[in-house]
Amino acid sequence: MALRNTTQRWGVIAQTFHWVIVALLIVQVTLAEMADDLPAGVRKLTLLARHKSVGITILGLVILRLVWRAVNEHPPLPGNLKPYEQQLARLTHVALYVLLFAMPLSGWTLSSARGFPVSWFGFLQLPDLVPKSRPLYDALLLTHHTLAWFLFAVVALHVAGALKHHFIHHDDVLRRMLPFTRQ
Ligand code: HEM
Ligand code: HEM
Repeated sequence: MALRNTTQRWGVIAQTFHWVIVALLIVQVTLAEMADDLPAGVRKLTLLARHKSVGITILGLVILRLVWRAVNEHPPLPGNLKPYEQQLARLTHVALYVLLFAMPLSGWTLSSARGFPVSWFGFLQLPDLVPKSRPLYDALLLTHHTLAWFLFAVVALHVAGALKHHFIHHDDVLRRMLPFTRQ
């Protein structure tokens, strides 16, 4: 299997970025929900610290993924899609990338506004993005929650699109993003 993308399929590196980020998003939302169910205390802070570190990891991976995308060719969408389907697919991908930046950045900013510094697994202390402010924290928390709902909605649309390609159009769009599959 090729490391780089071709005009036929995504290469191993692009596939790895895609599926590792999907797995980390599942971990990320699970950590947030587990922390949300706990009363204030050490256990909650530990889970939130992990949530922050995983979120910063996602941010780093998305930056690397976009760099890799920029220096690689990529398979075009099948030509038999209607113009509105092409537009919808592009819009969904752009929305996913925007949300993959907006989620970690809103989380990092809300932590700074709350006065809780962000570190990456205890190895790297990140700077505060804004000064401590209760009203700003409240607004950013609402933003972070709302963006998470947007992310769920866009991911649902994206997954429905991928399944439609596979089961209704019977094309290669899903297979070319899956490891260990053939054209
Ligand atoms: C793709 C990345 C991220 C996703 C999908 C995500 C998702 C979520 C979700 C769904 C919640 C709400 C849990 C609930 O109350 O129901 C949450 C809470 C939170 N997130 Fe994130 N998050 C991400 C990145 C980050 C980052 C990078 C940070 C900080 C550096 C962060 C900091 C927080 C904090 C502090 C809370 C709890 C807020 C509170 O209740 O006081 N998040 N996140
Ligand atoms: C959970 C969060 C997910 C996120 C954030 C996400 C994000 C993305 C993004 C941004 C792209 C565009 C790649 C590019 O053009 O650079 C993409 C492509 C793709 N995704 Fe996802 N994805 C997710 C889940 C899934 C799932 C569960 C499936 C399978 C059911 C899937 C199937 C695909 C396929 C097949 C492509 C390639 C589309 C093409 O070749 O044109 N994704 N994904």
